[in-house]
Amino acid sequence: MAVSLLLASNDETFREMIREQLLNIPDARVVGEFPEVNQNLYIRVLQEVERHPEVALVIDLAGDSDTSLRALQKVKQAIPDLYVIASSYTSDGEHVIMTVRAGANDFLVQPVKRLDFRDAMERLERTPRRVSTGGSRLGKVYTFLGTKGGVGTTTMAVNFAGVLAQRKQQTVLIDLDWTGNDCAMQIGAQPQYTLQEVGENLDRMDQALFEGFVTRDPLGFYLVGPPDSLENAGYFSEPMFRDFTTFLVEKYESIVVDAGRLINTELVLGALQVSNQIFVVTTQEYPTIRNAQRYMSFLMRMGFNQDQIKVVVNEYSKKAGPGLASLEQIKQTLNQPVFYGIPQSSAVLGSINKARPFVANREEAGDLDRAFRAFVDKATGRKKEAAA
Ligand SMILES: Nc1ncnc2c1ncn2[C@@H]1O[C@H](COP(=O)(O)OP(=O)(O)O)[C@@H](O)[C@H]1O
Ligand SMILES: [Mg+2]
Repeated sequence: MAVSLLLASNDETFREMIREQLLNIPDARVVGEFPEVNQNLYIRVLQEVERHPEVALVIDLAGDSDTSLRALQKVKQAIPDLYVIASSYTSDGEHVIMTVRAGANDFLVQPVKRLDFRDAMERLERTPRRVSTGGSRLGKVYTFLGTKGGVGTTTMAVNFAGVLAQRKQQTVLIDLDWTGNDCAMQIGAQPQYTLQEVGENLDRMDQALFEGFVTRDPLGFYLVGPPDSLENAGYFSEPMFRDFTTFLVEKYESIVVDAGRLINTELVLGALQVSNQIFVVTTQEYPTIRNAQRYMSFLMRMGFNQDQIKVVVNEYSKKAGPGLASLEQIKQTLNQPVFYGIPQSSAVLGSINKARPFVANREEAGDLDRAFRAFVDKATGRKKEAAA
């Protein structure tokens, strides 16, 4: 049986060492890596297990041992059948017992010897594996990332949340665009509370408190975003966001994030890391495509999987006129097929002026509405065959 591994370690050299050792094992590969062993690890592991039900996890406990043991415990609570190989520097009895109690199936002492590793892989291969997440109840995180300002990132995120809410999904829209703060504008909301209050109250966050902080759109989704005054940017940190999403994915079915267009901030990278799907929003204009290319290669270097990233072309027109790239050219440039094209429509501006999502007025939005719903279907797997 082929071996697929997830690697969790705070230590880049540990992950490198495991990857290297794997080269000697036929049919073995790493399908996911996590650079942080913390309480949110189980979310990322769950997401990967949904994609690769046959995986096993190698977890490095050598960093902060309390935190990493707790991380392991949470992983095993969430996914009891997952085969876990724990690793650390000490093999003293008490430590190994604690590791086993936290749920490890096997143990590798560091520095990991070639023979020990091979034996561990053999034990793993002999163990039947088919991990069930029990149809994971965790919410899905959908993040929209703009490759330039004005490409329609906010419009996509708001209407995506709108369609999910119309389908009776418990949905939260998070606006992480600190300078834009346009989600509230697009739905005509003037939120009293913001991510700042969320950040200040994370340690006692529950559903009642949260729903007191957020604005509810008439379509049914909740919105929380940055404070309107620009001074408070940067208050809501990346670790806060991770804590926050741990709460959200346990309580809500869908979390939609407007990440704005600043890809290289810690907060946005943190959001991308917990996302099930990342929609890179672009248009057919060459300067935007060029930026999209820079974004894509950055994401690849940061270790994102190609199947997490979906290219969405907004204001799409079939006739690629002068200055506009065709879908084929975009695919060539980005090294990835276009996931969906959303047509240009005057209904967008009309709906923004009315401060209502266009999906709230189906007749008026016509073709745009139909195309957008087909996009949501494809993105959420509702209709797998829906075509661009
Ligand atoms: N599909 C579309 N058709 C026509 N206009 C659009 C479309 N999508 C977005 N726009 C227009 O582009 C402008 C910017 O949209 P917005 O969602 O705020 O972009 P971003 O969040 O990327 O800055 C809006 O004024 C909107 O009217
Ligand atoms: Mg925006």
